[in-house]
Amino acid sequence: MAKIAVLGYGTVGSGIVEVLNTNKELIRERVGEAIDVKYILDLREFPGDPYESLVTHDFDAIAADPEVSVVCEAMGGTGAAYKFTKACLEAGKSVCTSNKALVAEYGTELMRIAKDKNCSYLFEASCGGGIPIIRPIRSSLCPERILAIKGILNGTTNYILTRMEQEGADFADVLKQAQELGYAEADPTADIEGHDACRKIAILSSLAYGKTVYYQDVETEGITKITTDDFAYMKQIGATIKLLGMSKEVNGAYYAQVAPFVLKKTNPLYSVNGVMNAILVTGNTLGDTMYYGAGAGSLPTASAVVSDVMECVMTKGETIDSHWSEEKLALSPLDGATRPFFVRVKERAEADIKAAFGEVKFLEPIAGETAFITAELSEAAFKKAAAEFEVISFLRVED
Ligand code: HSE
Repeated sequence: MAKIAVLGYGTVGSGIVEVLNTNKELIRERVGEAIDVKYILDLREFPGDPYESLVTHDFDAIAADPEVSVVCEAMGGTGAAYKFTKACLEAGKSVCTSNKALVAEYGTELMRIAKDKNCSYLFEASCGGGIPIIRPIRSSLCPERILAIKGILNGTTNYILTRMEQEGADFADVLKQAQELGYAEADPTADIEGHDACRKIAILSSLAYGKTVYYQDVETEGITKITTDDFAYMKQIGATIKLLGMSKEVNGAYYAQVAPFVLKKTNPLYSVNGVMNAILVTGNTLGDTMYYGAGAGSLPTASAVVSDVMECVMTKGETIDSHWSEEKLALSPLDGATRPFFVRVKERAEADIKAAFGEVKFLEPIAGETAFITAELSEAAFKKAAAEFEVISFLRVED
């Protein structure tokens, strides 16, 4: 029997215990031995909880217990979670996590320690919640040179945008509901400002391209400026707005970005609604593959962590290599990227707009505005033209 510890008994941690209990028998059959939770570490008490007797406040006892071979880190953040993860790996215990902030910040160091100690640091749940995406990149897509990753990588923001679009719901109300459903981060700013998606695209890109993409290098914009008026314009053109994390390789140059994009109905990510996430990965010989599922929430995320736990138990004494080197991947500036833009400016003559942006498609405007979609422009050309106007808002259009 394999003994494990769960660090953090919140949304994900409690889900891990539940998944292990619900699927106890099939997990035992598939792994070849039972997986038993020996400790649950949390600062709080859980009176009346069925696993109350497993709750401890003593991390050192876990680190020192030779019976514990795998530890699930579901604490979040980069403080105690980093310290505890490092201590567990140094003690030769594999660590499985959903903590994208920690993986994006310290992943390469933690993987190096795991390698030195013949154990593993795995993080399937760190991107896309319950969607299998890390293991497919590491394993199934191994022969591919990955050319692009485009994903809806944050459940909270996709839930908010979907409800704003479908019900005209108010941003703050929907955010509150996303928090109640256990989708949002402890500080939801990380979701709505795009920081969470930024960590995730940095992780996926590092795995895909084999070198470290620093999340600090990824230009990031959230959804706080999106309004129901933007969605009214989208109805006119049969499009929607999604927060995307994307990266791509073009002739040896790498680009990465997180921002809200206009998606047309023809885009495979258009219909991904609510808390669902999806990631479109393009390989040079494979072409497009898409991965879809619940991007947040207790049990889906926990299921992904448990898949890592099972892999660690089955490969005890070995290190699972994620093919992600510590060398930095230099990202190119986005100024050269070309695409159409959806633009809202304070009311101006159509001739002025055409003179600055070239041929555009005008939309039926809200009073006092002029709204239009440009032809393909580089970021630099767009910014130069936009500087002549009082811009209310703009969004990039993704085909
Ligand atoms: N807050 C995250 C989200 C949780 O909404 O996607 C899953 O990483």
